Amino acid sequence: MAVLEILHYPHPVLKQKTRPVQKVDEEIRQLVRDMAETMYSAPGVGLSANQVGYPLRLAVIDVTPVDQPKNLLVLINPEIVSLEGECTWDEGCLSVPDCNEEVKRSKKVVVRYRNLEGETAEIRGEDLLAVALQHEIDHLDGFLFIDRLSPLKRRLVKKKLQKKEKGEKKV
Ligand code: NI
Repeated sequence: MAVLEILHYPHPVLKQKTRPVQKVDEEIRQLVRDMAETMYSAPGVGLSANQVGYPLRLAVIDVTPVDQPKNLLVLINPEIVSLEGECTWDEGCLSVPDCNEEVKRSKKVVVRYRNLEGETAEIRGEDLLAVALQHEIDHLDGFLFIDRLSPLKRRLVKKKLQKKEKGEKKV
């Protein structure tokens, strides 16, 4: 297993819509293991394949608190089936370091996906799990949580991030 490099905004791969996984083979299983290790070591509650440079419709999520046994959810080709209600969540993202903003999301979500055995499965999520599912599926469609902010807020955040990016390049 390996900890992979997490790409940061404004890397172009984060803006690309990913392509479906055609076959769950050993290469995909290895990528899933590496993505899980990368997510746990960050630490984060979710990671999509394009965040580590693979433009594939694949994500991992684990929203269990750190003091409880791990419960890894592997989502291959996930699609939202239904959304219900509304909630506001203070979100961050491993690809947008040092930035947290409140995002409006649906409170409940049903997602259909394929698991590592290649079987079709469905998961219902509420609150944090629902937010994580929507956040990761957004990644797979080429969107970041900052794209969900109001236009004014988004401009301010992007300006701040661009300044930070320039600052990083100097050192
Ligand atoms: Ni993210």
